[in-house]
Amino acid sequence: MPEATYHFPRGFLWGTATAAHQVEGNNTNNQWWQWEEAGHTNGRSGLACDWWNGRWKEDFDRAAEAGQNAHRFSVEWSRIQPTPDRWDEDALERYRAMLRGLRDRNMTALITLHHFTDPLWVYEQGGWENDAIVGWFERFVRKTVEALKEYCTLWVTINEPNIYALSGYVGGTFPPGVNDVRRAIQVQANMIRAHVAAYRVIHAIQREARVGYALHYRPMVARSWSPLDRLMSSIRYRGINMAFPSAIHTGVMRTPLGNLSIPEARGTQDFLGMNYYSQDVVWFDPFNPKELFTRAGYPPEADLSENRFIANIPEGFYRALHWAVKAYPNLPILVTENGVEDSTDRLRPRYLAQHIHQMWRAVNFNWPIKGYFHWTLVDNFEWERGWTQRFGLWALEVETQKRIKRPSADLYAAICKENGLSSDMVQTYCPEVFNSLFPV
Ligand code: BGC
Repeated sequence: MPEATYHFPRGFLWGTATAAHQVEGNNTNNQWWQWEEAGHTNGRSGLACDWWNGRWKEDFDRAAEAGQNAHRFSVEWSRIQPTPDRWDEDALERYRAMLRGLRDRNMTALITLHHFTDPLWVYEQGGWENDAIVGWFERFVRKTVEALKEYCTLWVTINEPNIYALSGYVGGTFPPGVNDVRRAIQVQANMIRAHVAAYRVIHAIQREARVGYALHYRPMVARSWSPLDRLMSSIRYRGINMAFPSAIHTGVMRTPLGNLSIPEARGTQDFLGMNYYSQDVVWFDPFNPKELFTRAGYPPEADLSENRFIANIPEGFYRALHWAVKAYPNLPILVTENGVEDSTDRLRPRYLAQHIHQMWRAVNFNWPIKGYFHWTLVDNFEWERGWTQRFGLWALEVETQKRIKRPSADLYAAICKENGLSSDMVQTYCPEVFNSLFPV
């Protein structure tokens, strides 16, 4: 049996990613809380992982003991600026304490400034459809970065703008729950403008800052060679993946309904944040006008997660990274999210090992991948899916706040500590994929 270790470059960042609303608890002043109260979600966020009361300490301990040297978390706009004319210094102080907590544990911080939630005062004025959001967001970013800059130089402006816009304004699962492609495009255009404003403000405040956004990228393949399936696959691909990358690359935001010039967007990223979960098969569906007659699913033989939400397609991760280096040669890449829902940890060990292996292949072509943030540390509140999906390396017993370690936490700890993936680890945690990862 071959014995080997797939090593990563020195200084590689290994961490997990979290988001404020999903872990803090009692975020009552944003649109998601309202959406939950109106019964649109599978359960309520409630106390979540109780980080606002300080439980981040024990979770950061877990992460540090498990060899992680970085952590990505988000700040909650509705806490920092509860009303347009009020800043909550106590909230900022808590984030400073969390950042000191990371520093004390020798962990690099990556802060996300917007992760799906908006203060109610923003939401009630039309949220990201209102052009005024660009100035609102810029003010919030200025205040927040001024307050936190001592502890952080890595910033994600906006998490998954495509998912925010498409789930809220096309799919209807996120607030405000509408189906109108044009409104989704308006939202994304304003997100690009706000990202640009934030990019400039952060650099004006902090010279050494590195600023990007986190793109949810989904590679796609047409279900068949039929021209219609292929056409639909390219429409869907563009619609889901391309608005932000095209604007930042060329200054023109490309959408299935036309192009929009945002010249100031060009070049406004110091790294690409890549969130990869799975790859889609796409076909033409005459009965789905809502999604421009496209439909997506997974291959029939796919290795599916518990709720069929994610298919384990590690080659798709490689394709995603390949797309990134081709689109932006020499731009550093941070994998800002990757993970799978799996309460029993039946699939996660192999998902993890196979994805790390694909990332290692990419690193070996000298593609500039600088770090990997697994989603997520402890089970947290999964948006419209509530508590039905469990992405944590640690399980959470929601009623008691008890954390229970899953075997994947040990596998990931071994990877972080070794700065690599070894044949021993695969043999111990997911022997079923040994031959494909370490062929003789
Ligand atoms: C989001 C996370 C979410 C994860 C798993 C990503 O799209 O950024 O907030 O928890 O997917 O569903």
